[in-house]
Amino acid sequence: MLRVILIFGALCGCIYALDNGLARTPPMGWMAWERFRCNIDCKNDPKNCISEQLFMDMADRMVEDGYRDAGYEYVNIDDCWSSKQRDAQGRLQADPDRFPNGIKALADYVHKRGLKLGTYGDYGNLTCGGYPGSLGHLEIDAQTFADWGIDMFKMDGCYADPKTMDKGYPQMTKYLNQTGRPILFSCSWPDYQRASGIDVNYKLIAENCNMWRNYDDIQDSWDSVLGIIDYYAKEQDTLAPVQGPGSFNDPDMIIVGDFGLSYEQAKAQIAMWTIFAAPMLMSNDLRTIRPEFRELLLNKEVIAINQDPSGHFGKRVLQINGVDIWRKNLTNWDEYSVLFFNPSPYNKTVSLQLDQIGFTYMLGYMLHDVFNHRDIGHREILFPYDYQVPAKGVLLTYAYPSE
Ligand SMILES: *[C@@H]1O[C@H](CO)[C@@H](O)[C@H](O)[C@H]1NC(C)=O
Ligand SMILES: *[C@@H]1O[C@H](CO)[C@@H](O)[C@H](O)[C@H]1NC(C)=O
Ligand SMILES: *[C@@H]1O[C@H](CO)[C@@H](O)[C@H](O)[C@H]1NC(C)=O
Ligand SMILES: *[C@@H]1O[C@H](CO)[C@@H](O)[C@H](O)[C@H]1NC(C)=O
Repeated sequence: MLRVILIFGALCGCIYALDNGLARTPPMGWMAWERFRCNIDCKNDPKNCISEQLFMDMADRMVEDGYRDAGYEYVNIDDCWSSKQRDAQGRLQADPDRFPNGIKALADYVHKRGLKLGTYGDYGNLTCGGYPGSLGHLEIDAQTFADWGIDMFKMDGCYADPKTMDKGYPQMTKYLNQTGRPILFSCSWPDYQRASGIDVNYKLIAENCNMWRNYDDIQDSWDSVLGIIDYYAKEQDTLAPVQGPGSFNDPDMIIVGDFGLSYEQAKAQIAMWTIFAAPMLMSNDLRTIRPEFRELLLNKEVIAINQDPSGHFGKRVLQINGVDIWRKNLTNWDEYSVLFFNPSPYNKTVSLQLDQIGFTYMLGYMLHDVFNHRDIGHREILFPYDYQVPAKGVLLTYAYPSE
């Protein structure tokens, strides 16, 4: 009986998950919003406006610069892609000047390169940028996306009543399913409910969405990254149990390679998102990104931990001398990723004894530094060892039993 309970406990994240076969591990890709916003000025800023050319450029870079082969798969349109009017049949249509060939042609372009195309809409009357929303049009919009060959749909929640979302988002889940095309569903539902003080029903959300935004939009700054991490740390006991293959908490886009984060801070964002098993949707300019940031984004050892099949949400388990220590359990029994996160402006040395964070194998563990591809050394569990953690930065490790 105990065994049965344990097995059920272990699967708990999975049994709530949306059953469309998608997002078995955290989705990876690229998304326009944080970097390119609602720039529709293609006359004066043709390289950076929201247009089919922008998404084609990013798809090309993803293939040629190794992102696709590293696992980045989705190319995601965000707000401001559509015409302000629906067509004569009531369907959404792309802005004719900025997407002269239409979304279906763009989907074909992306698919030919072994990538997938995502798009954006809104549950309310209007999108956040003032384009047509899906309220009253959910079914036809789901069918339109399926007809175009869309692979992922993010549904925002501006101009909507958050109290109605417990009904409205599951309706969209049903309509997407009825198209017969597997479409990864990304929901902004809990974020809007949290912001308006409603108790969030995460079980219902995990049954209806492959991923969901919990907290404020990310901005291009370290403060914004810290705010999100702080919220996730405080809510970890709520967020961890609802996450697993098929359903992921989404702390928002990766802003590595933009203007707001230093190199150490960029590593810290990637490391934290890896511990959360968060979706890795970059929002940056892959045409001009500096090589050291590209290298961070393509780090295979880091990606392997982010994509660990268990999908576990790692937790903050200890704080020593102002350094947060996070532990994520990996699929293989008694293997972990341990993150030392130092938000302070000072380099720090932390003395940690591994039994303080739940390690029990008496012969000890090997700790490996995943950003630098080097073994830190064998660590017994009942002795303290020193770890150096850079200012506003991290030490991300992989730990496994060893003698
Ligand atoms: C959406 O628009 C309709 C028609 O104008 C209006 O009755 C309704 O209150 C609006 N809903 C929201 C949530 O703004
Ligand atoms: C629709 O839902 C059913 C039942 O949950 C599932 O088996 C099927 O794979 C889903 N299809 C799509 C296209 O999402
Ligand atoms: C932290 O250590 C690094 C590497 O040793 C050094 O370059 C940097 O100046 C130090 N930073 C601070 C704030 O002491
Ligand atoms: C994670 O690992 C720790 C240490 O082995 C263990 O105590 C804990 O129960 C594990 N948590 C989950 C969710 O498996």
